[in-house]
Formats: sequence, C-alpha cells, structure tokens
Amino acid sequence: MKVLITGVDGYSGWPLALHLLARGHEVVGIDNFVTRKRVKEVGSWSATPIPTFAKRQVAVREIMGKELGFYRGDLQNYDFVHHVLQAEHPDAIVHLAEQRSAPYSMIDVHHAVATQVENLTGTLHILYAMKEACPDAHLVKMGTMGEYGTPNTDIPEGFFDVEFHGRKDHLPFPRQGGSWYHWSKVFDSGDVMFAAKIFNLRATDVMQGVIYGIRTPEITDDRLLTRFDFDETWGTALNRFIAQAVLGSPITPYGRGEQKRGFLALEDSMQSLRLAVEHPAAPGEYRVFNQFDASYSVNELADRVARIAGEFDLKPVIEHPADPRVEAEQHYYQPIHEHLPALGYRRTRELDEVVREIFTDLLRFRRRLEAGRHVVVPTVQWRVPDSRPLLKARAAPEAPLPTHPGSPSLDSPA
Ligand SMILES: NC(=O)c1ccc[n+]([C@@H]2O[C@H](COP(=O)([O-])OP(=O)(O)OC[C@H]3O[C@@H](n4cnc5c(N)ncnc54)[C@H](O)[C@@H]3O)[C@@H](O)[C@H]2O)c1
Repeated sequence: MKVLITGVDGYSGWPLALHLLARGHEVVGIDNFVTRKRVKEVGSWSATPIPTFAKRQVAVREIMGKELGFYRGDLQNYDFVHHVLQAEHPDAIVHLAEQRSAPYSMIDVHHAVATQVENLTGTLHILYAMKEACPDAHLVKMGTMGEYGTPNTDIPEGFFDVEFHGRKDHLPFPRQGGSWYHWSKVFDSGDVMFAAKIFNLRATDVMQGVIYGIRTPEITDDRLLTRFDFDETWGTALNRFIAQAVLGSPITPYGRGEQKRGFLALEDSMQSLRLAVEHPAAPGEYRVFNQFDASYSVNELADRVARIAGEFDLKPVIEHPADPRVEAEQHYYQPIHEHLPALGYRRTRELDEVVREIFTDLLRFRRRLEAGRHVVVPTVQWRVPDSRPLLKARAAPEAPLPTHPGSPSLDSPA
C-alpha cells in the first residue's frame, strides 16, 4: 500500500515510516519541523541526536535500501495539502502532525490558541483534501486516550449504549479533556466523525495511550534513532523520570502520584498503526480504537524507574512536588481495548525491558542530558494564566550541544 504519514519527522512518525518500509509498503511523508523548533523554544533538545531530514533519507537508503518520499510543508496551507494528496493518491493517510504537548498548550493564551487553531485546521484541511483528491483513501487519525479524561466508569472504544428517559441509543462516549491540547483532540474527533458521514470517507480515530521507548527493530543504527524528549514540556513522565535518574536528581511524580494512564511501547504502537492501515474502515465508517497495553499510576512508573536504575548503579530518591496540573490525583481507570486485538494485535514488549533499553541509550547520551538538567523541573502551571516570563528565563544555551564521544557526528540539536 502507499501510505502518507503527516509528521514523519516526529517521535512516532519516523519509526512508523521505517516500520512500514520494512514491510514492503511505499511511504511518503510530510513535515514542517515545528516540533524541533518548539522544543528549542523551551530551551531543550532531543536526548538522542537527530540528523536533518535529508540525512535521515540518505540513512534509510544506505541502511535499509529503501526510498522515503518527503514533502516539506505546513498543513496550515490548504493548497499544499491538496497538492500532495492529488500528486500522491495514497491508500492510507496516517495523520500525526499536530502540536502534541499538553503543557505547551497551557503556557498562555497564545499557546492555547496556536494548539487549537493548528490542530483543527490541519485536520480539516486533510479531510477536505481527501474529499477532493482521494476520497477512497483511509484516514488513520491520531487522537489520545486523554480525550476521555478519567470517568468513574469503564471507558469503551468510542461509543457506548445509553438509556435515558426510557429511550436507548448508541452514542459517542463523553469526552473530558484535561488541557487545551486534549480538547483540540476532542474537537478533531468530532470533525473526523462528521466528515466520514458527509463525505463518505473511511476513518479510524486512534485513542493512543502514552508511548514509551526509543527503539524498534528497524532502528539498527544511530542515524535511524528517533527523538527522545525529556524536558517538562515535551517529555512524558516516564521519560523525565529516567532522565532524572541518569542525572542523579530526584524522580518527581506530581502530587500524590496516583494518576493512572494507559501506556504502550513504541514498537507495539507501530504494530497497531500498521494493523489499522492494513485493515481499512469501510467508506463512510468512523471507528475508534483504544490503543494501549496496560495502565500504570505515576507512582508505579517512578518505583519501576528507581528499581531498574539500581541495575545501572544509580540510586535515585523519589520526591513529590505539588501537581502543577488540574487533575484527579486518585480515580477509577478501566479503559476497554478489544478492536486491535480482534485484528491480530499482540503485545510484544514489556515495560521493564523497554525501561532498561532506554537507560542503556540515555547513559550513552548522558552529556546531552547534563546540558539540559534545568529543563526537567516543572514551571508551567495549569492555573497560572500567563507564564511567558518563565519560558524567557530558560532560553536555549548559546554553546553547541555536546555530542557523545562515541556517537557519529549528527546534526542536532533537535
Ligand atoms: N507520543 C505520545 O506518547 C502520544 C500519545 C498520544 C497521542 N499522541 C499523538 O500522536 C501524534 C504524534 O505524536 P509524536 O509524539 O510523534 O509528536 P511529534 O511532535 O514528535 O511529531 C509530530 C510531527 O508533526 C510535525 N508537525 C506538527 N504540526 C505540523 C504542521 N502543521 N504541518 C506539518 N508538520 C507538522 C512536527 O514537526 C513533528 O515532526 C500527535 O498527534 C500526538 O498528539 C502521541
């Protein structure tokens, strides 16, 4: 199949391109490199050095013997999106290119507006361009498990049966985003569902859990590494905890640390997305997949990281700063996960082994983490209306980033 990946330069878009190429699919990508730019904006960079996209394409050719097509451009530009879809006529579009950081969307009004305008505009442009240029293509749209929030009931896959005042219906399950970013995903879901109906499009909305890991079987060379963010804005809790352990800093679960979320290894996320691509929705069908393997509380993550750190002669302590977010710190969490297993999905990676793998990589790139020690501590507060001065105080360092002596010379910072 021919697959178009929007956001191909990102944390998950890059390994997805490698995964699909390795399985014989033709892959074309789109990116405007805004994640690289925005990570710099908060004074950070990827712990793993990331080559320019042109060098990534060369590495794919030399290491895998494959060609990866690429268009540099912004999904905010409708003519660009329409042009690519018309020129490429993909069988499937995996849409990953969005502003994906909840803390970034909570910095101030400008970051909130940028997140919602960009995410909704990009998705609407793809939906209209599909209608015009490739109406039979299948859209695999990346949402998030965070759209559901933490209701005091089980979480179905998108829809549930409801009875109210004696009448019954099968309706979308209520969404309760926990940040402006999460609400942008909720609004996107409504738009994709509506477009599938009126334009007769094929659509799969993937409610993805938090992904962990740096490696997939295709990443056999440092030139093929994907990014690893560890700062408070772009890094996940697990990423930050491992970085803190490597740096000899305390591991800092926010608040009581009993917040639970669904998680999935990078490699298994790639497997899930491939299964969604290879088993398209029917014309006019909007379906929802919950994509996660297991739920962990933030405390469970912190404890595991601290325990595994011991295997690397690191002895981190765990401290609990006040939670900068507005969220339930103790709650019920029981999402359902049946649609992907029905397509043949099987979990292949366990959390502990992936955490060990991340420690092994981060210790190699420790000097890049040390230069970013200041960016792990939380400063963005959900209740503070405008924290721009805090960002200013943490401008990116002028000096070039250190590269690990044993690693190839790459182009970071990314
Ligand atoms: N990583 C996770 O744990 C996770 C969890 C749930 C959902 N998601 C979702 O998965 C998707 C991919 O996440 P990721 O972690 O790979 O993010 P990422 O930021 O690393 O990758 C997104 C890529 O899209 C590009 N991009 C963004 N806006 C663009 C635009 N307007 N035009 C062209 N390119 C643009 C960025 O430059 C970046 O390379 C996002 O939609 C995110 O919300 C991620």
